[in-house]
Amino acid sequence: MFVLQKAEGNREERYGLLLKQAESLLEGERDWVANLANAASLLYFSLEQVNWCGFYLLRGEELVLGPFMGKPACVRIPVGKGVCGSAAARRETQVVPDVFQFPGHIACDADSRSEIVVPMMPEGRLVGVLDIDSPVKNRFDAVDQKYLEQFVERLVRHVDWSPLK
Ligand code: SME
Repeated sequence: MFVLQKAEGNREERYGLLLKQAESLLEGERDWVANLANAASLLYFSLEQVNWCGFYLLRGEELVLGPFMGKPACVRIPVGKGVCGSAAARRETQVVPDVFQFPGHIACDADSRSEIVVPMMPEGRLVGVLDIDSPVKNRFDAVDQKYLEQFVERLVRHVDWSPLK
C-alpha cells in the first residue's frame, strides 16, 4: 500500500522525496487516468502554496481538462491560448510569476496568482500539459521547473499513452 509521506527538509530534499514517492506510486501501473489522477493528488498534497494542480490533454487543436485537484476548472483551452496553450504551442515549460501580467491568461480559479505549466512529450510527441497554480505571486522558479520537469519525465515514462492517440 502507498503511504503519502510528509515532505521535510529543504526544497531540494522535499523534491527528492516527491520524485521517490512518484516512482513507488506509479510502479506497475500504466493506465493514464489512474496515473494522472494519482500524480495530481501527490503533487497537491506534497507542494506548498498550491491551489490547483492537474492535467490538460491534447485533443486535436485543443487541450481538454483531465484529472486534477482543486476547484472546477475550464474544460477546453485552444493550443496557443493562455498559459497552458502557450506551453503546448511552444512545447516548453512556462513559469508565470504573476498571472495578471500574462497576456491572455485564462482565469479558472480567482485565487491563482502564479502558475507553472510543463508539457508532456513521450518520445517528442505532445500529449498534454501539467498545470500548477498558486495563490502566491512568484511561487515558482527555476528550481521548481527543474524538479517538475523531472516529475513529468517520470510520469510520461510510466503511462501507456496509446489510448490517447
Ligand atoms: N490559467 C490557465 C488555465 C487553466 S487553470 O489555471 C486551471 C491558463 O491560462 O492556461
